[in-house]
Amino acid sequence: MERPEERRTVVTSKAEGGGARLTVKLSMTPRAGEQSLKDKYGVSKYDLGLGYDVPEALRSMIPRNVPDYVDEGENYVERIMRALYYFKQCALIGPSGTGKTHIVYLVAKIAGIPLWEINCGLQTSVYDMFGRFVGLGKDNWIDGLIVSWCRQGGILYLDEANMMKQDVATRLNPILDTRGHLVLNEKDNEMIPRNPFGYVIISMNPYSSEFAGTKPLNAAFRRRMSGWVDFDYLSVGSKISQREVSLLSERVKIPKDVAEKIVRVAAEIRKRYKSGDLPYGPSVGDLVNWATLVADGLTPMAAAEETIISLTSDDSEIQRTVRRIVDMVVGSGGGAKVVEKTEAP
Ligand SMILES: Nc1ncnc2c1ncn2[C@@H]1O[C@H](COP(=O)(O)OP(=O)(O)OP(=O)(O)O)[C@@H](O)[C@H]1O
Ligand SMILES: [Mg+2]
Repeated sequence: MERPEERRTVVTSKAEGGGARLTVKLSMTPRAGEQSLKDKYGVSKYDLGLGYDVPEALRSMIPRNVPDYVDEGENYVERIMRALYYFKQCALIGPSGTGKTHIVYLVAKIAGIPLWEINCGLQTSVYDMFGRFVGLGKDNWIDGLIVSWCRQGGILYLDEANMMKQDVATRLNPILDTRGHLVLNEKDNEMIPRNPFGYVIISMNPYSSEFAGTKPLNAAFRRRMSGWVDFDYLSVGSKISQREVSLLSERVKIPKDVAEKIVRVAAEIRKRYKSGDLPYGPSVGDLVNWATLVADGLTPMAAAEETIISLTSDDSEIQRTVRRIVDMVVGSGGGAKVVEKTEAP
């Protein structure tokens, strides 16, 4: 698949009056996305929306208000945008809560293009994805999500792609390889060419015995993914990311030393999750919730009970394990309150 041709719009403006006739010709290329973000993430080179006139009806599908994505020099945003720029599609692999979904939203926002999201783990029907006839008559066809994306462009995001049903995966194959089109057998085999601005990102948890419930990605599908980006938590085990600590203390306004303790607990839980000893590894978002209650005046232990401990599992034995980890790091009794609650007058 080739890069879309750069489309140029020529604007001619004529200023008449005073006898002189001035003709100004401006040649400009439509640009989508936010330049400040492109600079920030160093991705100006990979302009995915260059020349794409986003259809009016799809403008609301361009994500807004996506928080920053923090990493430790892995440059995930750049790697994803580069893969999409050259290959049109890429795969993201990483444990739950490492920010895969977050980054897809951010990439769509930076590029200024619509995002079509499908969770393959849910029972989304083939009709919802490809389309269906409604009522009687051959004219009453409604495009499904994938068909709409194929016609109109944007990023198609297939979350939990390894959970995709075989019949859907098989139908997607021609569109992901050099054929680049979709065939609608249900509609007289209509052939829909892939929009030149149609990108695909798939994401999934790594397939291994430690990730219960995951299954390997369909081989035909795997072969068609040209770029792969591996994700991991910012902090895990003894690796504590000061960026994650700062992110937490800035987002929730808690002292850095408290934020660091929270991150230490998370790093230990994540390590055990990755080795299969605990059922869940907390994301930055989960830590933000924990820290929010701490900032409101709860002790770190009391706040942990209502967030991270209950979140990890309903099983009381597992909860005890998490409680022990929290206790080990924040100290017995749950540590001092960070903020004394002010009494209501
Ligand atoms: N590196 C990061 N920088 C900023 N926020 C992050 C980062 N990693 C995770 N988060 C936050 O953690 C939460 C979980 O992230 P997200 O849902 O994107 O994870 P995921 O990898 O898609 O998980 P799953 O595999 O369960 O779908 C979100 O609130 C996200 O904003
Ligand atoms: Mg996700």
